[in-house]
Amino acid sequence: MCRASLLRSAPFELPQGGNEARVEGCSGAIKVACPFFLFPPPNPLKGALNSSGYKLTDFNSELNIMKFFIDTANLDNIKEAQDLGILDGVTTNPSLMAKEGITGDANVIAHYKAICDIVDDNVSAEVIATDYEGIIKEGEALAALNPKIVVKVPMIKDGVKAIKYFTNKGIKTNCTLIFSAGQALLAAKAGATYVSPFLGRLDDISTDGLTLIEDIRLIFDNYGYPTQILAASIRGPLHIVACAKLGADVITAPLAAITALLKHPLTDSGLATFLADHAKASGK
Ligand code: E4P
Repeated sequence: MCRASLLRSAPFELPQGGNEARVEGCSGAIKVACPFFLFPPPNPLKGALNSSGYKLTDFNSELNIMKFFIDTANLDNIKEAQDLGILDGVTTNPSLMAKEGITGDANVIAHYKAICDIVDDNVSAEVIATDYEGIIKEGEALAALNPKIVVKVPMIKDGVKAIKYFTNKGIKTNCTLIFSAGQALLAAKAGATYVSPFLGRLDDISTDGLTLIEDIRLIFDNYGYPTQILAASIRGPLHIVACAKLGADVITAPLAAITALLKHPLTDSGLATFLADHAKASGK
């Protein structure tokens, strides 16, 4: 029937709570299995049906599942997070590149390419120029390296103008050094793919960084801005959990903050007891 005869994938949209979807190019409805962790399906669940079943398209952005980026230029850290199976992308900045001793155009380019080879999602590469022409020139060169590259542009006047230019050219951008909701609004108006509010640095000066995430979420939702909130300058696991509660689209954090999410003393002591009881019962 229809499903078997589909040679190319056909888009579908599943209504909330339902498991029957109208599929483009087919008459009648088709049953679509919903992954258990998405039941009942959010509204709407979009995907593409092909001859072997269904595939969710752009899973994270369609369903708004929080993405995990690692905030480092250290290849070992990136590989470790990727091996854990939870990593989406990477953010870097000039300080993080300098920390790894990456200098000189050729080395910088090779390093970005190496990062792109490890991860599946976006890699933010920051421009050094602060004038419009310079940002455009650098950003276009960075974007040409790999489709995963997102041009990271500082929240300055020429930066906003450059974001508009990149948006018109279909180049993804991450507006960095966001410390106020007004700055985030301006970047979203210019079409930024991401805005990066710096939580930790606000906390450092006794200002609540999380309130900024909350404000930006409210503003973007009020108008349906597609710009993603990339919570940055994260210092620990509680920041990550708080950002998830507030609906940040992405968090970027150092490896230590991500792996700290694994830890709970009751998990450790509980596991030790399970293993000891098992050993006792097995006479070991
Ligand atoms: C990420 O894009 C930022 O550059 C980074 O999170 C800044 O973090 P820091 O405040 O720990 O330097």
